[in-house]
Amino acid sequence: MKNVLLRFEKVHKSFRVGHFFSRNVIHAVCDANFEIEDRPAVFTLVGESGSGKTTIANLLLRTINPTSGTIWLMNKNIKDFRKADLIKLIQPIFQDPFETFNPLKKVEAYFHLMLRKTSVSKRKTNDYYVLERVLNEVGLAIEDIKGRYPHELSGGQLQRLSIARSLLVNPKILVADEPVSMLDASLRISMLNLFRKLRDEKVLHIFYITHDLATAYYISDHIAVILKGNIVETGPADKVLICPLHPYTQLLKESVPKITEDKKQRTHKREIWKNTESVPGHSEYLCKFVYRCPHRRDVCEKEAPPKCTVDGVIVRCWLYHNPSEGGV
Ligand SMILES: Nc1ncnc2c1ncn2[C@@H]1O[C@H](COP(=O)(O)OP(=O)(O)OP(=O)(O)O)[C@@H](O)[C@H]1O
Ligand code: SF4
Ligand SMILES: [Mg+2]
Repeated sequence: MKNVLLRFEKVHKSFRVGHFFSRNVIHAVCDANFEIEDRPAVFTLVGESGSGKTTIANLLLRTINPTSGTIWLMNKNIKDFRKADLIKLIQPIFQDPFETFNPLKKVEAYFHLMLRKTSVSKRKTNDYYVLERVLNEVGLAIEDIKGRYPHELSGGQLQRLSIARSLLVNPKILVADEPVSMLDASLRISMLNLFRKLRDEKVLHIFYITHDLATAYYISDHIAVILKGNIVETGPADKVLICPLHPYTQLLKESVPKITEDKKQRTHKREIWKNTESVPGHSEYLCKFVYRCPHRRDVCEKEAPPKCTVDGVIVRCWLYHNPSEGGV
């Protein structure tokens, strides 16, 4: 039997926005279902801007609660965890490493404070060894940070430090929301390699969030594709990224600009992304790709797409529906 670490079950998150007379509801995440097995891997959530990626990260970190549905962590409802226990299991890595640190505090002092707060190091004399351990794990040394303020470090060094900060509590899952998008292209690969190293050497689960299919391709073991709050395809990364099933994932793959393409071609591909906007009044349960899909059928405009399993990949699309199998 599969040992499941994390499971999203029919998770829905909506936000109310606007004032009394122009109140609107945004369905940021709709009926999200996916699971992550309990073995170290990089699970990537990929989708365009505004598709609900950060909302899923926040639900996982329990900074917000689902409107409906359940998130199971090690077979226990995530809302039943004590906050202090949850923090030890799941740690965030933010997009902007400068946000992690207090600009007025020397980095080393910040780490000492964290060690006291998290009670990872019981005695001050032990701090040095814990700090040295986590810095080594991210490829830094104490000399790199000694006496320095955050602004005296490079973006790459700071992002490594924010990962080191997360490692202090020996977590099981790192939730990394666009962790490389603010780094130079040359630093991105080394940061992604660090995630892979942590997966293998620290036996960590990396929940990697990105809008960038190229980095997803480089790092992922498993992948979930999200479109306007709906997870449309999930499965082993090599299958999903090499032979995507959902027409949206296929478009996504085609729209990744190649290095050799000129500016005009790249702009055209960006336009394809824009045109996946859903239509006002369109039910959040129907396929969000319906007005762009070249394979649309009548049923697509009337009923929610079924959940179909094709060779280990789960895809929500009428194209793969086999009536004899039933079930949605
Ligand atoms: N606190 C909130 N209140 C109201 N609407 C919100 C809130 N948080 C997110 N949203 C809306 O939910 C949708 C999903 O937002 P989310 O931040 O999860 O997207 P994202 O995929 O992370 O986008 P990006 O790639 O730009 O970071 C958006 O339409 C956003 O405006
Ligand atoms: S459900 Fe229908 S409209 Fe949506 S992607 Fe599949 S075929 Fe296209
Ligand atoms: Mg986001």
